[in-house]
Amino acid sequence: MTKNKTNTLCENTADINNQKKYADRVRALLLEKEARLGRKMSVYVQTFGCQQNEADSERILGSAISLGYVQSEKLEDADLIIYNTCAVREHAELKALSKTGQLKHIKSKNPELLVGLWGCMVNQEHRVDDIKNKYPYVDFVAGTNMLHRLPEILCDVMENHRRRYYVDDGDYSIVEGVPVKRESDIKGWLSIMYGCDNFCTYCVVPHVRGRERSRRPEDVLSEAKELIDGGCRDITLLGQNVNSYGKGLDCGIGFADLLESIAKMDGDFWLRFMTSHPKDVSDELIRVIKENEKVARHFHLPVQSGSNGILRRMNRKYTREDYLGVVEKLRRAVPDITLTTDIIVGFPGETEEDFEQTLDIVRIVGFDSIYSFIYSPRHGTPAASMEDKVTYEEKTERFARLMELHHEKIVEINNGYVGKTIKVLCETPANESDRGEYGGRCTGNKLIKFTAEPGTDLYGKFVDVEITRAGDVQLYGELRKQ
Ligand code: 5AD
Ligand code: SF4
Repeated sequence: MTKNKTNTLCENTADINNQKKYADRVRALLLEKEARLGRKMSVYVQTFGCQQNEADSERILGSAISLGYVQSEKLEDADLIIYNTCAVREHAELKALSKTGQLKHIKSKNPELLVGLWGCMVNQEHRVDDIKNKYPYVDFVAGTNMLHRLPEILCDVMENHRRRYYVDDGDYSIVEGVPVKRESDIKGWLSIMYGCDNFCTYCVVPHVRGRERSRRPEDVLSEAKELIDGGCRDITLLGQNVNSYGKGLDCGIGFADLLESIAKMDGDFWLRFMTSHPKDVSDELIRVIKENEKVARHFHLPVQSGSNGILRRMNRKYTREDYLGVVEKLRRAVPDITLTTDIIVGFPGETEEDFEQTLDIVRIVGFDSIYSFIYSPRHGTPAASMEDKVTYEEKTERFARLMELHHEKIVEINNGYVGKTIKVLCETPANESDRGEYGGRCTGNKLIKFTAEPGTDLYGKFVDVEITRAGDVQLYGELRKQ
């Protein structure tokens, strides 16, 4: 597990300037390689895990490109492969490790290849030991707080021809100005804060991403403007707990203020945010959603469990009654808002009665989508040492019952859209539109498949779609004449 992490809130310009000299040395080394091999050096970044990791990967890729790499379409062709890993559940770690194992073969074919593991999984000492001992073809590991230090890491590995471990050094300051290569030009991630202070007893995130710290509002606003001016139509503000944005900044700006400032910017876009903690949803935030049409009509509100006993042992700091109270307020203020949630099934000691309480909350709320997970013990977290008599079979059986109930509810909810016309942001590129089949999302973040005249260029446009049929994960419809 990691050491004590500092909560430095200022931008660390000294450090980003420091990277420039390493960047120059890496550029020179890459040019030498290119001259020797007669080809460009290329990079491939693959993400495991959450949206925060996807956002981080865009910075890792942006940094590598700024050093002279070109982006490789295929893993096998790359000279630098970076896996940005996740630690939230064991399954995610095992997947990353198994994919890493497959790189041994690729590495034996390309002596130039450098392999790096990045992010949450390798910000844990026991995983770093695994890599040191069992994966000799991994050239470097880098924790979540190393985003701005790719030049230094590559320089170190290339010049010294040795394996390097850039893990949690306790410096969790925010560094602005890291280059970014975004995956989409119409949808963009915008990190507003990093880390988490909540310490839910099952969760590894505070241990691998450090204490909560917020970016300065002026930095967030200028990135938002850049995205909007660049044609981005769907912006998602990211943080482990966006509702506590601004804590420790001493500028008097909270999440609701930040959201409203961006929503009031000129331009045609939707503004989303995730993730929210039910204990921190303020009346002011609900007002901002209600009064600003650009704020998407979607709220992701992880409940985790419907049982007060389990919520207490999870250290969630709210009760099921509190949760239902927030849902009621949200729905009263914004009746068409969609609600999605996260649920952990089989938390240590979860009884049948506890689980029934979770089913009950699902019945009452009727979520538009549920991200449900079987509890996975995480190294060094309090829940990992709680007594747990529930068998894995019981947990999988509960998981199936939860999914079945959700399925019944969602069919009912989605059928309510049939016959309505809704605004959709089309995400199908023009060159994929020859069959006249398009896809996109609505303000409530539901997936919409729709038909239109083949070859029509609707990419990045807001269009009206009449819903003709409902599925459980998506809605189907036809383009309404504009
Ligand atoms: N086991 C299972 N699910 C987990 N989550 C976080 N930690 C664990 C764990 N140890 C889930 C929570 C969280 C989501 C991102 O992942 O539901 O909201
Ligand atoms: Fe993990 Fe809880 Fe923080 Fe979310 S709020 S990242 S579940 S500790």
